[in-house]
Amino acid sequence: MKRITTIDELRRARAELNGTVAFVPTMGFLHAGHLTLMRRGLELCDHLVVSVFVNPTQFGPGEDLDNYPRDLKGDVEKCRSVGCEIFFCPRRDHVYTDHHSTTVIVDELDRSLCGPSRPGHFEGVATIVAKLFNIVTPDVAVFGQKDYQQLAIIRRMTRDLNFDIRIEGVPIIREDDGLAMSSRNRYLDDDQRRQALCLSRGLVAAHRAYTDDPSRTVRALLETARRPIEAAPGAHIDYLECVHPQTLMPLDADRPVSDDGALMATAVSIGPARLIDNLRLHEPLPDGPLRSLP
Ligand code: PAJ
Repeated sequence: MKRITTIDELRRARAELNGTVAFVPTMGFLHAGHLTLMRRGLELCDHLVVSVFVNPTQFGPGEDLDNYPRDLKGDVEKCRSVGCEIFFCPRRDHVYTDHHSTTVIVDELDRSLCGPSRPGHFEGVATIVAKLFNIVTPDVAVFGQKDYQQLAIIRRMTRDLNFDIRIEGVPIIREDDGLAMSSRNRYLDDDQRRQALCLSRGLVAAHRAYTDDPSRTVRALLETARRPIEAAPGAHIDYLECVHPQTLMPLDADRPVSDDGALMATAVSIGPARLIDNLRLHEPLPDGPLRSLP
C-alpha cells in the first residue's frame, strides 16, 4: 500500500493502476463501518483508494474540527488489512490553497434534516468530494447510508456535474447493541454511551408502529419515535423528521406514509457528541442488532 500526501503523487500512482478503481473518502479514525465501505469497493473494482482528510470547510463555527478524533497510524494499518492500494492523506494547505474561491452548492436536498442546523456543511462536503473525485478519478465511489442526506447530495452532484462515477451506497453498520458506528462515538463516556441507544430505540419504535398499522399518521409515528429519545435524560433532539426517501422533503404530518415510503431521521446531542441515525420505515428492519432491540 502506498501512503501518499501530495496531489501530484496521487495522480501518478492512480495513472499506474490498471483496471477499475474504487474510492472511499473518509475523515479517518476508521471503524468497521468504514471498512465495510472499502470491502464493498473491492467487490466492485480491481483497486481501492482511500482518503483520510478532516475537511475544515464542512465544520461550522463551534463544531468539533479541532477535537475531531485522529489515529493516522491505526487508519493506515486498517486500510492495509482490507487490501487498499493507495492511502491518500493530503495536507490541508495543499487541498485548499490561498484564495480558494470555488464551491459546490447542491440546492434543494439540503433544506431539511442536517441542512438547517449545519449551514454551509453540505457545501463543504460537496466541494471536497468534487475535488477528491477530480483528483482520484475513480470508477466507483462508496458512501454510507448512515449519512443518508450526504449520500443523496453526492448522487445529485455526480449526476448534475456529469462525473463519470458510479455512486454506491452501503447500509448502516452498527455496534452489537444497535448504535450506529461513528467516529464521534468516541466522545461518549459510559453513561452517555448507554443513553446513545435512544436513537435506535426511537427509530425502531416508529418502524414497529408503522409495520403494525401503516395507516398511522406521520405525526403519530414521530411521537412514537420521540418518546424513547426524550426518555434519555442527557439527550437533546436537534431534529427528528420523517421525509420522502428521495426528495428528503418532510412528509405531511396529518397523513399516513404514502406508497413512496418514508425515511425517519434524527440528530441528537448527547454530551459533546452530535449523533445521527436513520431508518426507512417502508422496508423490513435490516438484519442485525436492531431486530433484537427490546
Ligand atoms: P466520515 O464521517 O469519515 O465517513 C466516511 C464514510 O463512511 C461516509 O460515506 C459515511 O457515510 C460512512 N460511514 C460512517 N459511519 C458509517 C456506518 N456506521 N455505517 C456505514 N457507513 C458509515 O462522511 C464523511 O466522513 C465526510 O463527510 C466525507 C464524505 C469524507 C467528506 O469529507
